[in-house]
Amino acid sequence: MDNIELRNESPSHGETRKFEPLPRPSLEFTPEVEAETRHLYERVKHVVTPMEWPHYAPLIKAINDLKKERNAVILAHNYMTPEVFHCVGDFQGDSLQLAKEAGKVDADVIVQAGVHFMAETSKLMNPDKTVLIPDLEAGCSLASSITAEDVRQLRKAYPGVPIVTYVNTSAAVKAECDICCTSSNAVKVVESLGAPRVLCIPDEYLAKYVQTQTDVEIISWKGHCEVHKLFSAEEIETMREAEPGLKVIAHPECPPEVIEVADFTGSTSGMINWTKDNKPAKVMLVTECSMSSNVAAELPETEFIRPCNLCPHMKRISLEKILDSLLYMQHEVTVDPDVAQRARLAVERMVNLTN
Ligand code: 13P
Ligand code: SF4
Repeated sequence: MDNIELRNESPSHGETRKFEPLPRPSLEFTPEVEAETRHLYERVKHVVTPMEWPHYAPLIKAINDLKKERNAVILAHNYMTPEVFHCVGDFQGDSLQLAKEAGKVDADVIVQAGVHFMAETSKLMNPDKTVLIPDLEAGCSLASSITAEDVRQLRKAYPGVPIVTYVNTSAAVKAECDICCTSSNAVKVVESLGAPRVLCIPDEYLAKYVQTQTDVEIISWKGHCEVHKLFSAEEIETMREAEPGLKVIAHPECPPEVIEVADFTGSTSGMINWTKDNKPAKVMLVTECSMSSNVAAELPETEFIRPCNLCPHMKRISLEKILDSLLYMQHEVTVDPDVAQRARLAVERMVNLTN
C-alpha cells in the first residue's frame, strides 16, 4: 500500500507527515449500525426521515470510527446539512466560533466541514495541525471577489486608512489587511481602530450594515454573497402577509432593504441564539437554507418558513466526501509561511479583541 505524503508546514517540525490510506469500510445498514447510531438519529429525527437514515447511518458510523483512528475532529459550520452538523460535527458554530475552536484543537487532524477560507483560517490558528477540506471546490463568492493585489491598490488609493477584511477572504488577502472581522463582531472591530474612516472589504452589504451601526465612515468594496444577495424586501413582505405573526431574522450579508424590514440581524450563531431565546411560533431565517433544518431539529415547536437559497459551496461537503477525506487524508490545506505569518496577525487581532 502506498503512503500518501503530506507536507507539514509546522515551523517547529517541518518534516513530512505520512498517512496510510485506510481500507473502505462496509456501508451496510446492519442491526449493529442501527443500534450504534440510534442516539444520533434522536438528534435529527424531526428533520431526517426514517427512509433516509439507512443511507446516512453507516456513513456516520464509519466517519465517527475513522475520527478516532486518525485522531481527527470535525469543525462544522452552521450551514452544514443536519446529518453532518448534528451527527459527525465535533464543534459547531459561526465563522468566529470555528476559528476560535480551531486554535484550541488538540487532535492531529482538523476536517473543515465548511468552505475553503474557513479551512485556511483553521490552519492559521493552529499551524501544526493537518487541515483537510473534503472538497477543494468549496469556495465562496465573497472570497473570490477580491485579490491581494486589489488590496495593495486600495492601500495606495487610501493612504493611512485602516483595512478591515471580512473573514470570508483568502489568507493572501488577509495578509494585506490590518485586522479581520466576522459578521458577529464587525462593528466592534471597526470601532476598535479609533480611525475616522475605515475600509471594510469585500462585502458591500456587510459594510453598509456596519455603517448603520457606527459613526465611523465606512468605505466598501463591491463583493457580494451569491446566496444572500438573492433575498428581497418584497419577498419578505409577501411572506409576512401570508404568515401572520412571522418573525424575520436576517444575516448582514443580505441587501440593506432586507435588513431594514427584518426583526433582528446577526451572524449565523446570532440568528440561532435569537431563535432559541425567543422561541417564536413562526420564524423565517433569511440565510442559507440548511441552517433552518439544524435549528428545527432542536426546536420542534417552532414553525420554520424557509426561503430555500442553498450555498452551492457549502453543499459540496457531504458525508461521502468527509468519509473519503478521512480515508485518503484529502485535501490538505496549506498556507505559504510568509503569507500565513501576516494573515495570522489579522485574525489574532480580531480574536484577542473579542475574547
Ligand atoms: P457567519 O460568520 O455568520 O457564520 O457567516 C459565514 C458565512 O459564510 C455566511 O454566509
Ligand atoms: Fe460565501 Fe455566501 Fe456561501 Fe457564505 S453563503 S460561504 S458568503 S457564498
